[in-house]
Amino acid sequence: MGTEELVEVVLPGKVEPEGLRIRHGQVPVAGPGQVLIRMEATGVSFAEQQMRRGRYYDQPAFPFVPGYDLVGTVVDTGAGVEPGLAGVRVAALVKVGGWASHVLVDAADVVPVPDGIGAAQAETLVVNGITAWQMLHRKARVRAGQTILVHGANGGVGSVLVQLARAAGVHVIGTASARHHDALRAQGVVPVDYRAGDVAARVRELAPGGVDAVFDHVGGRGIVDSWRLLAPGGTLVSYGSASTRDDEGSKQWPVLKLLGRVWLWNALPNRRHAYFYNAWAGHALAKDRFRARLRADLTQVFAALQRGDITARIAAQLPLARVADALRLAESGTVAGKVVLTP
Ligand SMILES: NC(=O)c1ccc[n+]([C@@H]2O[C@H](COP(=O)([O-])OP(=O)(O)OC[C@H]3O[C@@H](n4cnc5c(N)ncnc54)[C@H](OP(=O)(O)O)[C@@H]3O)[C@@H](O)[C@H]2O)c1
Repeated sequence: MGTEELVEVVLPGKVEPEGLRIRHGQVPVAGPGQVLIRMEATGVSFAEQQMRRGRYYDQPAFPFVPGYDLVGTVVDTGAGVEPGLAGVRVAALVKVGGWASHVLVDAADVVPVPDGIGAAQAETLVVNGITAWQMLHRKARVRAGQTILVHGANGGVGSVLVQLARAAGVHVIGTASARHHDALRAQGVVPVDYRAGDVAARVRELAPGGVDAVFDHVGGRGIVDSWRLLAPGGTLVSYGSASTRDDEGSKQWPVLKLLGRVWLWNALPNRRHAYFYNAWAGHALAKDRFRARLRADLTQVFAALQRGDITARIAAQLPLARVADALRLAESGTVAGKVVLTP
């Protein structure tokens, strides 16, 4: 790779954002079945907020390079890889490793980014877009005219989910801090302040017959309200435990508790459904199906962007070297959309 050098961000342990380290090294070479991506955009996800606290349910041992997803150009292809991939802009979901100037990925895991979509734009839609699309269309299977409740409607996942739902003709009630309410109203969302008053009571006023789906990344005790707000035939999609980010103790237990609840609710005869959505479900056991689904769904999300159904919401763009500022900003609760990191 000529004179280029590898630059990556290392999370050495449980640290404040300023404790992240920059490491320099040699650019790797693509092995059989792999491509080397020169990163153009990666980003801060909620997962990294949890990982730096040692609270992501499935994180590797320290030290490691975080970075849930990335967009970049293929600059090297390994043996057995279609050589035409070289020079193509692609997106990849990697869970860790994205915060680097160059990233090795299995060729089967990359999804081409259509012409006309910028790297930072695309980056806002990788993990967020896949998660939002699959929860909306594969789990809840929403239909036009239905009403849904989206918690954290201004967040990375929430903002994409809300827009996809509106494009599908769905009525949306969204929880968010008050400062985001005007922006939500402009998108046709009925906002509810989750920091003030009784959210469940307010949602019942707005949807007396219950809602057709609830998307809940907050977890904790509030998940019971989310379940009770469902109309007959409705679907609860639980997909996170944001409320326990700053807790001590087991990082798996809050998720296991949610899984247990959801399993029980789903098993009991009550004409409602409950799921825990995990973007990685099927990855280990049915890799080909997992990859095909991811490719199809992310392609749909990019098409929705090209149609103007959704907009890419870039909260800020900062170089990798300013990762501490990027993480602080993402955690500040003041931004809307995705904090993007660039080389
Ligand atoms: N299961 C999976 O496969 C999967 C995949 C991707 C993401 N996730 C989960 O999705 C969630 C969102 O991720 P993200 O990257 O979109 O995060 P993000 O951009 O930081 O957004 C988080 C959002 O949560 C809101 N929020 C925080 N506490 C809340 C509460 N108690 N009630 C309602 N809203 C609350 C924030 O609202 P304010 O700004 O108004 O405070 C913000 O909009 C995370 O919990 C993450 O773990 C799960």
